[in-house]
Formats: sequence, C-alpha cells, structure tokens
Amino acid sequence: MKPIYIIGFMGVGKTTIGKELGDRLHLPVIDMDSYIEEREKKSIKEIFDQDGEQYFRDIEAGALLDLTKQEAIITTGGGVVERKENREVLRQQDLVFHLTASFETLWDRLEGDGDRPLVLKNSKENLRSLFNRRLPLYESGSSITIQTDHKTTDEVIKELLQHLDVDAV
Ligand code: S3P
Repeated sequence: MKPIYIIGFMGVGKTTIGKELGDRLHLPVIDMDSYIEEREKKSIKEIFDQDGEQYFRDIEAGALLDLTKQEAIITTGGGVVERKENREVLRQQDLVFHLTASFETLWDRLEGDGDRPLVLKNSKENLRSLFNRRLPLYESGSSITIQTDHKTTDEVIKELLQHLDVDAV
C-alpha cells in the first residue's frame, strides 16, 4: 500500500481527519509537522524563529521524501505545496486528498492562534492572499478535493472513504 496524503490550508482539519481516518482504517498516522519537530527537537514556531522559513522548507521537503515508502496516512503542513519539487512528489502519489473550506471558515479557526508562525506574522488579508495563491497549488498536487464547509468529521470521512477501495468501520 502507498501512503494516503492529506493536504490543505492551515486550519482545514488535516490532523483531525487524518487521525480519524487512521482509526477507521487501522493505519498509522504520521503528521509531518510532528515528525519535523521530533527530528529537530524544536517546535515549528522555534524553527521559524531561530532558523527561518527557508530552513523549515528544506527540512519539510526532506521529510516528504523520507515518508513516501510508509504504509500510513500522512498529514502534511499547509505549506508543503509551496515548493515545485514537493508538488512533483505529491503528483506521483496515488492518493492525495485536498481538504478545503472557505477562507472565512478557516480564519474563524486560525484567528488568535499563537503557535502557527504564519498566522502570527500575517494580517487576515495577507493570509487570504496566501490562501488564494495556494489553492491552485493544492489542486495541482492532489487527486481528490473534498469541501469541508458545514460538514462534520464523520461526513468528511465518509466522503473520503468513498474514494478508497477498503472496508472500514
Ligand atoms: C504552514 C503550515 C503549518 C506548519 C508551518 C507552515 C504553512 O502546518 O507546517 O507553520 O506554510 O501553511 P498546518 O497546516 O498543520 O498548520
């Protein structure tokens, strides 16, 4: 089995959906940000503050490559599509789910977040531009897009499972 990837903008619920999908499919879940934090022994915020975003993106690209052989669900950071090489890696995978929602829904979840460096240093309008700029990148890196606005976790999971040839509870 190849990995199942979950991509999408910050706050869209990649981690929540990934964990739930892992439970249903009895598959391990690897969160790329947590993987990076363990390897670097620092939080994502500390990496951005101390080493800069480009360093984080280098580590992120390496982590994406490291994980392509895992039989697991891989939840990526929202910026994984920033690099062309990462989008190429994602395009070579069979199952890349793009979770999306309206920017206002995402902003409601992100506003006041003290852990996400890009939320801390950007205004709402800058984040909206980032979201709009990234949308086509998520589309080009993914095979299936799932709208999550006004849907429960269970509804999103059901939709996801329809694309997977598996028996899940
Ligand atoms: C980022 C998203 C974050 C994390 C880092 C950068 C981004 O992950 O990787 O703060 O560029 O969108 P989440 O999408 O899990 O918040």
